[in-house]
Amino acid sequence: MGVGTTIKDRVLSGMQPSGALHIGNWMGALENWVKIQEEFESYFMVADYHSLTTGYHDTHDLPQKIFDMVVDWLAAGLDPERSIIFRQSMVAEHAELHLLLSMITPLGWLERVPSYKEKLKELAQRDIHTYGFLGYPVLQSADIVLYQAHKVPVGQDQVPHVELTREIVRRFNGLYGEVLVEPEAVLTEARVLPGVDGKKMSKSYGNTLSLGESEEALSQKIRTMVTDPARIRRKDPGHPQLCPVFSLHKVFTDAERVRDIDRSCQEASIGCVDCKALVSSAINLKLHPIRERRSLWKSQPDKVEEILHEGARTAKVMAHQTLDAVKDAMHLNTLT
Ligand code: TRP
Ligand code: SF4
Repeated sequence: MGVGTTIKDRVLSGMQPSGALHIGNWMGALENWVKIQEEFESYFMVADYHSLTTGYHDTHDLPQKIFDMVVDWLAAGLDPERSIIFRQSMVAEHAELHLLLSMITPLGWLERVPSYKEKLKELAQRDIHTYGFLGYPVLQSADIVLYQAHKVPVGQDQVPHVELTREIVRRFNGLYGEVLVEPEAVLTEARVLPGVDGKKMSKSYGNTLSLGESEEALSQKIRTMVTDPARIRRKDPGHPQLCPVFSLHKVFTDAERVRDIDRSCQEASIGCVDCKALVSSAINLKLHPIRERRSLWKSQPDKVEEILHEGARTAKVMAHQTLDAVKDAMHLNTLT
C-alpha cells in the first residue's frame, strides 16, 4: 500500500488481559498483529472491561495481568511508534457508546450469539447471569465502531461478535443516518499449538510454553512432553503425524529439516530425546530476541504505563470524534 497516496485502512483488535502469553498466543494472534501494524493504521486494545464480564468477582490481579500481557505484546514486536496500544478502561468513550448502542440492540440478538450460551455453561460455577455479560458483544461493537475500524482481525470464535457489530451498525445508520462504518472480520489463520500434554495449548489446561520462561525451563518442559504413544522403544518406527512434538517442529523448524525428521522418525533413525532437543533449540532460537526485549520492558514498568497513557490519549481523539457524531445524530448534543 502506498504511503501518503492512499488512506490506510484502520484496524482494531483486542485481547482480554490474561497475563503472560504463551507461544500459542504468539504464533496465533500476536504475530499477525505485528505484521498488520506495518500496513495499516492499527489500534490494539487491552480489553479490561471485557474481562470483568466473567471475572468481576476478583479484580486484584488485573493490573499485573495487564502489565504482563502488554510486556509480551511489546516483546513480540508491537511497536508503540506505529500502533496505538491502549487500555479500554482509560478511554471512557467505550462505556458511553456501549450505553447508546445498548438502547438499540434487541435482546434476541444477544441471546442468539453462540458464545453466550456456551460460556454460561462452561463457566456455570461463576454466576455470570449478569446484565454486563449479556452485553459483552455490544461493548465489543462499541470498541470497533469508535475507531471506525474497517477491519477486525480475530479468531473464528469472535466472528459472530463482528457480525453482530455489523447488524448494530446497520440498525444505527437506519435510525439516525449514515454515521458508523460497517466493519469486516479478517480471520486469523488458526494455528493451534499442542501443549506439553498433547492437548491444545491453553492457560486453563496448565500445559503451556510461555513467552517469558527461560531457555532451560522451556527445554525441560519439552523433555517431558508426550510423543507418539505407539513409539515405546527407540527402535519402534514412529508416526510423526500423531506426535505433538512434530506439530511444534512444523511451526518452528525449517521445512527441509522437518522433512528429514518426518522420515527419520518413521525409519526409527532418530530418537525422541534428540528430536525434542532439536525442537527446543528451534523454539529457543526464535524466542531469543523476544526474551531480550521482554526483560528490558519488564524492568521498565513506568515506560509501559506511559505507553498506555499515550495510547489512550491518541485513541481518545478518534473515539471522541465518533461519539460526538453519534450524539449529534441522536440529537443528544444541543437543544437546537
Ligand atoms: N472479545 C475479544 C476476545 O475475547 C476481545 C475483544 C474485545 C476484541 N474488544 C474487541 C477483539 C474488539 C476485536 C475487536 O478475544
Ligand atoms: Fe515424535 Fe520426534 Fe519422537 Fe517421532 S522422533 S515420535 S516426531 S518426538
